[in-house]
Amino acid sequence: MLDPKPTVLIMAAGRGTRMRSALPKVLHPVCGRAMVEWVIEAARAGGAGRIVCVTRPGDGVAEALPHGVESAEQQQGEGTGAAVLAARGHIEPGAGVMILSGDNPLIRSELVAALWDAHRSAGAAATLLTTSELDPAGYGRVMRAPGGQVERIVETKRVDGVPREVLATREINIGAYAFRGDDLIEALDAVSETEGERYLTGVFPLLRERGRPIAAHATADVSSAIGVNTRLDLIQVERHAQRRIVERHALAGVTFISPQTASIDAGVEIGADTVLEPGVTLRGATRVGGGCRVGPQTTLIDATLGERVVVPHSYLVECAVRDGASVGPFAYLRPGADVGERAKVGTFVEVKNSAIGAGAKVPHLSYIGDAEVGEGTNVGAGNITANYDGRMKHRTTLGKRVRTGVHTSFVAPVDVGDDAYTAAGSVITGDVPAGALGVARNRQRNIEGYAKRAQEESGP
Ligand code: UD1
Ligand code: MG
Repeated sequence: MLDPKPTVLIMAAGRGTRMRSALPKVLHPVCGRAMVEWVIEAARAGGAGRIVCVTRPGDGVAEALPHGVESAEQQQGEGTGAAVLAARGHIEPGAGVMILSGDNPLIRSELVAALWDAHRSAGAAATLLTTSELDPAGYGRVMRAPGGQVERIVETKRVDGVPREVLATREINIGAYAFRGDDLIEALDAVSETEGERYLTGVFPLLRERGRPIAAHATADVSSAIGVNTRLDLIQVERHAQRRIVERHALAGVTFISPQTASIDAGVEIGADTVLEPGVTLRGATRVGGGCRVGPQTTLIDATLGERVVVPHSYLVECAVRDGASVGPFAYLRPGADVGERAKVGTFVEVKNSAIGAGAKVPHLSYIGDAEVGEGTNVGAGNITANYDGRMKHRTTLGKRVRTGVHTSFVAPVDVGDDAYTAAGSVITGDVPAGALGVARNRQRNIEGYAKRAQEESGP
């Protein structure tokens, strides 16, 4: 825990034009979570006091910020220096302030805390975070005086005209800093524009001229250092983030048969002794209990699985599957599906907005929509709930321990009582009382000698 807790500014108002996107750069997701949210999370866990995010009016970033995060609008000027000046009202002259970049999503909270500690123990006016472990192309290079003190940062986004010794420098500016508030604002006001931008990094030579102490905190943590300016950078960051997520779950007791093919969002929860087979995609607020077996090739989106659930080759969205149930292979559970304990939803079955009772089975080739299937009921192969009359949706209710014949259609609204049966091929348009057999089809008749007659009529 940091003491006193510093205000953290997050610069998130850049135009991000090299992303070639209608979406603001910092809202691009990394493992399902917006870049800026990763930074906010690191700031929080790293001991931030207030968190203020610099946003551009009307770009939608301010609206997307989590509860408790303030925003400051960058209404004028371009560049990281202009971003900080937009938040000057949040910088207390006598106190320290940390500045992070919204496009540096994987910065670890430990590093945020270490940067602040280094700043405080050095008694510096400014401390910047650096690394020499990343490909330095395109980053600001940290140029040091012969004595080792930080002199200035030279941008290398464009290399023409950049001196050789700069391009040979491996140490880069990560874009995370701690400052004394008054030193920062005084220096920043004096920074002039470079190609229409006011660079935050312009403060370093000015602070140095004024004899103010500058410290640098170096890290070897590559993933913490990556800044995202293009979608190529995003690919790199996504890979590191995914590895972090997989490692966290593995250490918490999850088995990965093929970790490189797993795609798991940051907010997903998975219980111990669950096995993830190859090709598993877990998105959003998905929660998987312990002892489950998910995959191969299964997607869960905002789905909740209880304990010991088995789901091979299936696609589940906004649904719940309770303890001991099994789903698939090749099932599609849509929003509002609720599969009860030990129930089974089998092959080529689609379920929407329906409860499948404990121990009930829908094993093959069925569509169950807007229905309740009672405990212990067995739905025959190829059953369909006709839930839509062209204008409205209606419900189908099957009681407990019902046995439906193959190819039954339920023309909703319709109720089938407990322990009832339906005959194969029935189109059930009226209720079936408890314990009854509903038969709704034409009786078979056989036309004797038909084949012979057909042959005679078609001639030799
Ligand atoms: C910046 C640093 C560079 C460092 C790199 C690390 C400067 C001048 N350069 O370069 O030394 O190596 O980050 O990734 O600071 N932003 C605003 N308002 C603006 C412009 C930018 O809020 O007007 C925000 C962006 O949304 C982004 C951050 O500031 O989150 C950094 O801006 P970006 O344009 O990506 O700077 P880089 O060129 O990457
Ligand atoms: Mg950047």
